[in-house]
Amino acid sequence: MIKVVGLSVSLLMATIGSSAFAQANSEYYNDHYCTTCHGVDGIGNEEVSAPRLAGMEVWYLQRQLESFRAGIRGTHKMDLQGIEMRAMAEDLSDASIKDIVAWVGTWEFKPAPITFAGDAEAGKALYTACASCHGAQAQGNEAMGAPALAGQNDWYLATQLHNFKKAYRGRQPGDRFGSQMIVMASMLVDDTAIENIVSYINTLGR
Ligand code: HEC
Ligand code: HEC
Repeated sequence: MIKVVGLSVSLLMATIGSSAFAQANSEYYNDHYCTTCHGVDGIGNEEVSAPRLAGMEVWYLQRQLESFRAGIRGTHKMDLQGIEMRAMAEDLSDASIKDIVAWVGTWEFKPAPITFAGDAEAGKALYTACASCHGAQAQGNEAMGAPALAGQNDWYLATQLHNFKKAYRGRQPGDRFGSQMIVMASMLVDDTAIENIVSYINTLGR
């Protein structure tokens, strides 16, 4: 297995190419397969735009891997990060997904570092529209299919809100969960609203 610790991901990708990486690992992964991008302890890595996985709900983790594999997510040509992740998932078998979920799902919840300093009070008012699905503490709600947002990397939440707003994510046929977010994200009128709501989410569940 390629030794990736201490090696920058872009260098790694330049050396072997991301699809070769996926292929070489389609039925085989080790401790570095996910953390190469998703950060030490799965806490997220802004440099490569890969979010925190540590503490992610297993049902959501599994659904996202299946959505990437099925091309329900990570298909729009402007969704560059999604496309990158899809390459990681597209060759996974059901058994591999099960194994990965059983493994990654045990990683202890660790809230991601805060990098945003928007107006959390203004964000709080906006968040009232989100609580019915994501929970008052942004703890997530499996029955609604809505993941926890608390503790997730703020830059990643903002990217996803932009992606839903522009329909880079959620418009693919079959994406019945993502499509719900397109309407919700369109209520956030500009970058400031997105920054404020994410700054409020940063105050929850820590
Ligand atoms: C080459 C880098 C790379 C590797 C390796 C990688 N990922 Fe990702 N992953 C990403 C990026 C970038 C995103 C963000 C996609 C986006 O912005 O939509 C992502 C997104 C995800 C998401 C969606 C998170 C969410 O909150 O919706 C999950 C789940 C995920 N990855 C799981 C994994 C797992 C499990 C592994 C190991 C089997 C893995 N990834 C390996 C780059 C990678
Ligand atoms: C009608 C229910 C519903 C409401 C209301 C809602 N969401 Fe969501 N949200 C979802 C679902 C379902 C998903 C999962 C989409 C998927 O599986 O791809 C999601 C996903 C997200 C994601 C992506 C998370 C990730 O890890 O990739 C973000 C960010 C988000 N919602 C923020 C918000 C914000 C902010 C609001 C309020 C403005 C909001 N949501 C309102 C149902 C909802």
